[in-house]
Amino acid sequence: MKIIKTKDYQDMSRKAANLISAQIMMKPECVLGLATGSTPVGLYRQLVEWYQKGDLDFSKVTSVNLDEYKGLTRENEQSYYYFMNDNLFQHVNIDKKRTHLPDGMEPDSDKACTDYNGIIEAVGGIDLQLLGLGHNGHIGFNEPCDHFELGTHCVDLTESTIQANRRFFESYEAVPRQAYTMGIGNIMKARKILVVVSGEDKAEIVKKAFFGPVTPQVPASILQLHPDVCVVADEAALSGI
Ligand code: F6R
Repeated sequence: MKIIKTKDYQDMSRKAANLISAQIMMKPECVLGLATGSTPVGLYRQLVEWYQKGDLDFSKVTSVNLDEYKGLTRENEQSYYYFMNDNLFQHVNIDKKRTHLPDGMEPDSDKACTDYNGIIEAVGGIDLQLLGLGHNGHIGFNEPCDHFELGTHCVDLTESTIQANRRFFESYEAVPRQAYTMGIGNIMKARKILVVVSGEDKAEIVKKAFFGPVTPQVPASILQLHPDVCVVADEAALSGI
């Protein structure tokens, strides 16, 4: 595992964007595994800026996202599809037909998950998977658990996640109760993994995940066993090590 220490959030975003940009230049038809959340917003902004300057070309890139809420339409501002479109896809020349997320509107969970595993396989697997890190060590929606779930699966969101998401929705009832997520196996099969982490509030989990024992109680700890992981984290996130 390689750890790149950056000064702050902006520096983290630029360095991580550099690695993604290098991947696209080395293999223009690459498959990028993408993430939502607040951490990657700055790096997506940077990629858009480089694209607008003519330094990056997404025309042959395929993307597969980590996760999506079950029951939200693509037009819903809280859907991860909306997020990706808003933060990246609509600003660059990526072919929308080559952007994939689990189908949040598929009510049959088994079908949604089997279909998504099929998509990841059909595109030839993931060249570079981008990950954020949850405060409890989750990656995607793989929450602490007593075993590592391998394939794409449907998760029941915990009451604390539902409560935390409440502020984004009209009512408590409107908050999604489930999500589809890539499993640990899908993530670990990626040829390269790039983890971005920022902020002092992540310092404790960075220490546990990357320097503690490998356990499904800290899902990100499994990344210690992957042969090609790069963590780009700012000083604050690395302050615990
Ligand atoms: C995002 C995702 C999540 C986030 C994680 C960190 O697609 O699956 O695992 O990466 O919750 O979120 P932020 O970056 O908001 O701290």
